[in-house]
Amino acid sequence: MTSLKWWQTAVFYQIYPRSFADGNGDGIGDFKGITEKLDYLSSLGIDALWLSPHFPSPNWDCGYDISDYTDVAPEYGTLEDFKTFLTESHKRNIRVILDLVLNHTSDEHPWFLESKSSRDNPKADWYVWVDTPPNNWQSCFDGDAWTYAPERGQYYYHYFMKQQPDLNWHNLEVRQAMWDAVRFWLDLGVDGYRLDAIGTIFEDPNLTPHTVPMNLVELRRFSETAQTDEEKKLKDQYWQDMFKRQLGQPGVHELMKELRAIIDEYDGDRLLVGEDDNIDYMGDGKDELHLVFNFPLANTNRITPTHISQNQKERIARLNQLAFKGWACNTLGNHDRSRIYTNYGDKIHDAELARLNAALVLTLRGTPFLYNGEEIGMTDYLLPHISQVKDTMGSWYYHTIVTEMGVDPEEAIVRTAEMTRDKNRTPMQWSSKPNAGFSPEDVETWLPINPNYKAGINVHDQEHNPDSLLNYYKHLLKIRKAAPALIEGDYIPLHETAEEYFAFLRKSEKQSVLIVLNYSEKRLELNFSKELTDKKLHTLFTSGVRSQVSRATEKLTIAPFEVFMAEVRA
Ligand code: GLC
Repeated sequence: MTSLKWWQTAVFYQIYPRSFADGNGDGIGDFKGITEKLDYLSSLGIDALWLSPHFPSPNWDCGYDISDYTDVAPEYGTLEDFKTFLTESHKRNIRVILDLVLNHTSDEHPWFLESKSSRDNPKADWYVWVDTPPNNWQSCFDGDAWTYAPERGQYYYHYFMKQQPDLNWHNLEVRQAMWDAVRFWLDLGVDGYRLDAIGTIFEDPNLTPHTVPMNLVELRRFSETAQTDEEKKLKDQYWQDMFKRQLGQPGVHELMKELRAIIDEYDGDRLLVGEDDNIDYMGDGKDELHLVFNFPLANTNRITPTHISQNQKERIARLNQLAFKGWACNTLGNHDRSRIYTNYGDKIHDAELARLNAALVLTLRGTPFLYNGEEIGMTDYLLPHISQVKDTMGSWYYHTIVTEMGVDPEEAIVRTAEMTRDKNRTPMQWSSKPNAGFSPEDVETWLPINPNYKAGINVHDQEHNPDSLLNYYKHLLKIRKAAPALIEGDYIPLHETAEEYFAFLRKSEKQSVLIVLNYSEKRLELNFSKELTDKKLHTLFTSGVRSQVSRATEKLTIAPFEVFMAEVRA
């Protein structure tokens, strides 16, 4: 296993700083809190953290609108607190990567304040300015993509909210300034970056208008009300057509090369992982990104054996075709997506499906990324009142459909609660104490706590229950660490057309492991004798009761929803 880099063997865990742990009792997560929870993370068995933005921000997009790239948001602590957190993480052999937002800054960043102050200031060209909106482009969060700045009498472009103006990456000074910020944190010892929304950095130079007969709010509404298959197909087409001139444009590869060269000046194999599923961003294996996410695996409402099998066939084949044999990176949840437990549940077997999906991400070939709270089965929490909504793309949508489209406020809040990302960002549930042990009892937390913390969905209760989801994750993480095939082994699909279960081998020089994930409520009798001739199965892990059932390759009994892993030996 020695030839692999640390980011190939590691399991990552995403921390959403605002919601992870509140160390000073003000209702908002912070570095003191995160540092106090490092022993918890060690005991969970993860190896690296991805921290969502921790920089000063007016929080129009929960930290993804940065007003200072080289400091810590005061509500999260000080730079000293950050350094303590980093040192303490490294002491526990936990690496830390930060979030790097390249496409845009906050509209309160000094660069933008200066840029918008006049047409001839030194930073006049640092953002994307035009005299009049040249096209009908939309922002993916809040309507028109061009917003007027009276100080200049001009419009600026923003792919996200109007408080997130796009930087002009054609300007070399912009690059220099951002690379300085990148070095600042690398100098402090961080282990790399997750690159935010890289596909949005450049726009079509011809500014070609989109052809969708709707604006953003109308398209969102149309998507919500689409009933027939035809309407559903049309809405997918519209989403693609609306933004295709604003995404994935030329220029990103060169930029990634520049960034990679900087990262490589540092020792310790620092990592770049892109928020994109385009494998081309891995360049020649040495000159762009180390990893891109396998989002297509997650982009479904139902994880089924057929879906996984298809996904792996496409992704692994493409990675293997690359001269450098690209490394996969799998995830099912993050701060932008409905929680795994809710999203992929069927409302009857949610608990079983959550276990299967955890096993899936932790056994597929590639680096797994987990999202804080998934290990205890946190679910989406739909906010009942518009006053509680913090994700401003959600409140913008609510007010627009109520005031401009006449949608009934009662329906509007239901729709908004579903679409905002607040639902999957509620505070981490640490115990069954008031406020889920996240904040002291009398404090109002920044987002409401999901009340299900009282029903066992919290760390403390689950630590004391051997059958809990948390202990299941811990167990799986231990198995993974001890099984070289699960880390470095090739992926070999078995019984590819099976619709009820997903079976595969992970095979390295040292070891071969069979994994069977039964996504059905049926008890299965499987025969692997053809694929595993003269071999025996030695159980590594099972979520079923296995004492009286067969383990022979020609007659392997698998219980409903069972996760089964066995070492294949002569
Ligand atoms: C990325 C982030 C998301 C953010 C957006 C704009 O997609 O994951 O949370 O809103 O970029 O920065």
